[in-house]
Amino acid sequence: QMGIFTHDPGFTSTSSCESKITFIDGDKGELLHRGYPIDQLAEKSHFLEVCYLLLYGELPTATQLEDFENRVTRHTMVHEQMHRFFTGFRRDAHPMAVMVAVVGAMSAFYHDSTDISDPWQREVASIRLIAKVPTIAAMAYKYSIGQPFVYPRNDLDYASNFLRMCFAVPCEEYEVDPILTRAMDRILTLHADHEQNASTSTVRLASSSGANPFACIAAGIACLWGPAHGGANQACLEMLREIGTVDRIPEFIARAKDKNDPFRLMGFGHRVYKNFDPRAKVMKQSADEVLELLGIENNETLKVAMELEKIALEDEYFVSKKLYPNVDFYSGIILDAMGFPTSMFTPIFAVSRTVGWISQWKEMIGDPAMKIGRPRQLYTGATRRDYVDVEDRG
Ligand code: SDX
Repeated sequence: QMGIFTHDPGFTSTSSCESKITFIDGDKGELLHRGYPIDQLAEKSHFLEVCYLLLYGELPTATQLEDFENRVTRHTMVHEQMHRFFTGFRRDAHPMAVMVAVVGAMSAFYHDSTDISDPWQREVASIRLIAKVPTIAAMAYKYSIGQPFVYPRNDLDYASNFLRMCFAVPCEEYEVDPILTRAMDRILTLHADHEQNASTSTVRLASSSGANPFACIAAGIACLWGPAHGGANQACLEMLREIGTVDRIPEFIARAKDKNDPFRLMGFGHRVYKNFDPRAKVMKQSADEVLELLGIENNETLKVAMELEKIALEDEYFVSKKLYPNVDFYSGIILDAMGFPTSMFTPIFAVSRTVGWISQWKEMIGDPAMKIGRPRQLYTGATRRDYVDVEDRG
């Protein structure tokens, strides 16, 4: 059944859905997009081609890819009136707060792609979101640092365009660095989709009510913000900085083991991967490349990360709990080296995951058997009782 959740009759309320998009084998540490292994896609493909694969189910021909890239490129600008949204925020607003608001508001600007019963409107909404979310993320960053917005350019690839919108200033041209572009493209590719994670399930549940795609993606952004999910990349780098030096690692390892201490090792563990996260392996290669390029191999944060990973992988507690570095463990180190503040780490995750949310949204609402999601509950509250007037209460 293609609904968002299928429930068994009892209160076990196991919820699941069917999908053809992404397959994860948590024990083997395997991640496939439409059957293709993530390590091969990260090595041989690029983000917009992976977007096409997730959306349409097959790798594109050269002509299909060129057409798709042109369609996305020609939708990267946002309506000029949207610029005014940003001035309503304090400069120190978290970029995720801005993205939730502005992406949600897109339905007020793009009326001709909100009717989900129309396949053409569904297609246009998909392209608009993939094209405009990076522009909105870059605008949120520029606004937070008091710099003017930088318009997208149609002669740049997706990752280069995003980096330029974030780092270019009117006073001088931004030189696109191919290695940074490659690293950014790889980060976007590695975060594109991940089966029924919390934010994707949020998008599916919101979509099942027939809400417009922009509202549903805004719901996904809101869920991704949490430190247990997409917010982990920001929390991980902040944790590595708090640890500061290699000699302080044992103190934090002890805290992570202490059941009375809510502290968890950010960037470690996963609900599904009980072996390594295949994305973390690729991300680590990128971290080495970028830091070498930037001549900061002796990055103290990287040293702490490498030592923390080494200790955790040998520690009996973490091994027994099957806690391995996840996709968020290294991405923050790369983004930090590129010059992004930690507050931009999760927005970049959202830029990438938009295609995963949209692909799963299209898969679900395209099915005539879709029904509104209605997770069951196990009631553990008070049994029936009569009202007591206030003067008779204790
Ligand atoms: C993402 O679902 C997805 O696919 C998400 C994601 C995606 O692409 O969409 O992969 C992206 O969200 C990756 C995860 C990012 N989050 C973090 O790095 C935050 C730190 N990690 C933890 O919060 C935690 O590992 C979770 C939330 C990711 C998973 O937590 P669970 O569900 O409790 O994991 P588990 O059941 O496998 O935990 C097993 C045990 C538990 O102890 P016990 O209750 O059995 O005694 O290990 C403990 C946990 O308390 N544990 C940790 C830990 N993670 C789990 N202890 C210390 N440090 C950690 N990081």
